[in-house]
Amino acid sequence: MLLQAIDIYKSYPSGKMRIDILKGLNLEVHQGEILVIVGASGVGKSTLLNLLGTLDKADSGEIRFESRNLSQLNGKRLTKFRNETLGFIFQFHHLLPEFSALENVLLPALIGRRKGREVIKSAELLLEEVGLTQRKHHKPGQLSCGEAQRVAIVRALINNPVLILADEPTGNLDGQTAREVFSLLQKLTKERNQTLVMVTHNEELAKRGDRILRLADGKARKTASNSK
Ligand SMILES: Nc1ncnc2c1ncn2[C@@H]1O[C@H](COP(=O)(O)OP(=O)(O)OP(=O)(O)O)[C@@H](O)[C@H]1O
Ligand SMILES: [Mg+2]
Repeated sequence: MLLQAIDIYKSYPSGKMRIDILKGLNLEVHQGEILVIVGASGVGKSTLLNLLGTLDKADSGEIRFESRNLSQLNGKRLTKFRNETLGFIFQFHHLLPEFSALENVLLPALIGRRKGREVIKSAELLLEEVGLTQRKHHKPGQLSCGEAQRVAIVRALINNPVLILADEPTGNLDGQTAREVFSLLQKLTKERNQTLVMVTHNEELAKRGDRILRLADGKARKTASNSK
């Protein structure tokens, strides 16, 4: 098992009250799988992904990565863990507008102090794999939505993370482009034996994952449409 969430509680302030979002949530993520998380809007999917990705902290409960308790990581060690181990993809690409596609891809590598020709080479190879060699010097404003999202995928993969967390990575795309972008993500992560946790509202794509969990009432449950 790669990642485990144990008895997670998370609430947010709402005026003088607090709203409970996650209420004793448990889940396990296995090495190499594509785990899809579905659920109604506002149920806490992004909240959960942020907790799994150490971008936010739970009120109580544990997130364990390879049996290490992540809540005990802080400061530089946490930043290093995130940079080396995790890849993030969001609904909107969040590319930096002033930088080219290639430069955007290189940023996580530079943050991780990887430099030089070797890392540029791997960025170029990845961009080639997603069919963007001809677009590598384009700025985000000069890319289509699907192209920008492919750049965002490559950026998430540049440090060869063990785990990729994707929050509606195709939510901003039309049906055909969404299928293409998901297929690329699936191919790249499977080839590298990486693990993907993906939130989606797209039922068709959800079924193409290895396993589906539905978030409801603050907990994660297997779904009936779980094919495996
Ligand atoms: N920082 C915050 N402060 C207060 N409430 C928040 C905060 N972040 C999220 N919430 C609330 O928590 C609930 C869960 O939000 P979350 O973004 O996790 O939902 P979601 O399942 O990802 O929804 P969607 O499918 O629309 O993206 C929502 O009701 C939201 O309003
Ligand atoms: Mg969300």
